[in-house]
Amino acid sequence: MSTTAQIGVTGLAVMGRNLARNFARNGYTVAVHNRTASRTHALVEEFGGEGDFVTAETAKEFVAALERPRRLVIMVKAGGPTDAVIEEFAPLLEPGDMIIDGGNAHFADTRRRERELRERGIHFVGTGISGGEEGALNGPSIMPGGSTESYDSLGPMLEKISAKASDGAPCVTHVGPDGAGHFVKMVHNGIEYADMQLIGEAYQLLRDVAGYSPARIAEIFRTWNTGRLDSYLIEITAEVLAHVDAATGKPFVDVVQDRAEQKGTGRWTVQIALDLGVPVSGIAEAVFARSLSGHMALREASRGLAGPQAAPLGEAEAAAFADRVEQALYASKIVSYTQGFHEIAAGGEEYGWDIDPGAVASIWRGGCIIRAAFLDRIRAAYDARPELPSLLADEAFAREIAAAQDDWREVLAAAVRQGVPTPGFAAALAYYDALRAERLPAALTQGQRDYFGAHTYRRTDREGSYHTLWGGDRSEVPA
Ligand code: 6PG
Repeated sequence: MSTTAQIGVTGLAVMGRNLARNFARNGYTVAVHNRTASRTHALVEEFGGEGDFVTAETAKEFVAALERPRRLVIMVKAGGPTDAVIEEFAPLLEPGDMIIDGGNAHFADTRRRERELRERGIHFVGTGISGGEEGALNGPSIMPGGSTESYDSLGPMLEKISAKASDGAPCVTHVGPDGAGHFVKMVHNGIEYADMQLIGEAYQLLRDVAGYSPARIAEIFRTWNTGRLDSYLIEITAEVLAHVDAATGKPFVDVVQDRAEQKGTGRWTVQIALDLGVPVSGIAEAVFARSLSGHMALREASRGLAGPQAAPLGEAEAAAFADRVEQALYASKIVSYTQGFHEIAAGGEEYGWDIDPGAVASIWRGGCIIRAAFLDRIRAAYDARPELPSLLADEAFAREIAAAQDDWREVLAAAVRQGVPTPGFAAALAYYDALRAERLPAALTQGQRDYFGAHTYRRTDREGSYHTLWGGDRSEVPA
C-alpha cells in the first residue's frame, strides 16, 4: 500500500461518497473507508474512473494510506457514531494530524471533541457542509471550525472542492475556533427552516386567498425567482409545485401527507437562542409549525373549531394580492436573516469566536440550501459596516422593508380575516414592530413582577432599582 492519499473519507453513505468523489474529481488522491467494506469497493467500482482512490478495509490500512499530517474526514451520523469513529481512529493518529467531522454535529459536542483531541495533539475540525447530496458532489458550502493551523493545511483543498459564488469566490471560510463552524451550520439550518416556512405560507395564501392552482403558483414562484427572491429554495419550490403525481394525475403536493419532519438542527437553533437570550421568533415559529403539523390526533380533534372559510378573490384582485405576498415574503425573509445573524453574533461573543458575518454571508451565496442572490446584499451590508448592530439597521434593507410594509400588513390582515395560518409572517412583523416601538409593555411586565414578587424595577428618570410597597401604602423605596 502506498502512503500517498492527501485526504481520506470514512463513512461512505451518500454524503461521504459524494464528498470523496468531489475530492478525487479535483485531482486529490482519496483514501476511502467504510465500516462495511462492500461499500468501499462499490464506490471504486462505480466511480474509480473519476480520479485516484485508495481503498482501505481496516482503520489501520486507512490511516497508513494518508500522507502526513493526515487529513481524515469522517462522514457518519452525528452523536454516538461520531464519538465511536473518533475513538477508533484517534489512537492510530500522530500529533499534527487532523480529524474533520463533516456531519451535522451539535457545536457543543464539537467543542468537547476538539478539546479532548487537542490534548492528544490532534486537530479536530468540526465542519458544517451544506448542499445535500448534489452539493457534496459538485460543490458545497463549507463551514469549518478548528485551529488556524488546521485551516492552513486544509483550507486550499476545501476551497477547491467548494461551490463558487457568482463572483468566483469559494464558498468556504475559516469560521472560527472549535465549534464555530458547526454553530454557523446550525444557524444556517434554522434559517433554512424559516425560509421554508415562509415559502409555505406564501404558497398557502396564493392557494386559499388568491385561489390559484399549484401549477399556477409554480409559475409565480418561477417569476419571483428572477427577482430579488432569486434562490435555490424558491427554484425548487416551483419544481415541486409543478410536479404531477403519476399514479393519480393530481398535483404532487396534494398527495403528500402534510406532516413535516425534522432531524433537529432547526430545533437546536431555537434551543441555543433561548440560552443566549436571542429572539429568533421567526425560526421558532418554523420549528413549531413543523411540530404542529405532526400532531395528527390533535389536528383531527380540532377540525370542527369555528372560523372563516377562505373565499378566493377574483382574477384581478388575486394578481394584485400575489404581488403583495411577494412583498410580505421578502420582508419576512429579511427578518429571519436578521434574527439568524443576531444569533451568530451572540454565539461568537459567548464563545469568543470572532466570527465575521460578512464572510458567513459570502460563503452562503453558493452551494448551500439557503443560497440566494439576497446573500450578496447581506455580505455587502456587513462588509460596509462590520459592526452593523442588525441587518435592519442597514439603510438599503430598511428602505426595502419600509416599501414592503403596507403590503406585508395587508397580507397578514387578509390571512387573519380568512383564517389562513401565517405564524412566520406574523412573527416577523411583530419582531419588526417591537424593535421600532418607542415603548414596549415590558414596563408593565416589570410592574407585575414587582407586585407579586418584589422583583424591583428601574425608572426612566433616575438611576437605581426600586420597589413599590404594593401591599402597604404604595410608596416607593430604593431596592
Ligand atoms: C444542508 C441541509 C442538510 C439537511 C438538513 C435537513 O444544509 O445541506 O440543511 O443539513 O438536509 O439536515 O434537515 P431536516 O431533516 O431537519 O429538515
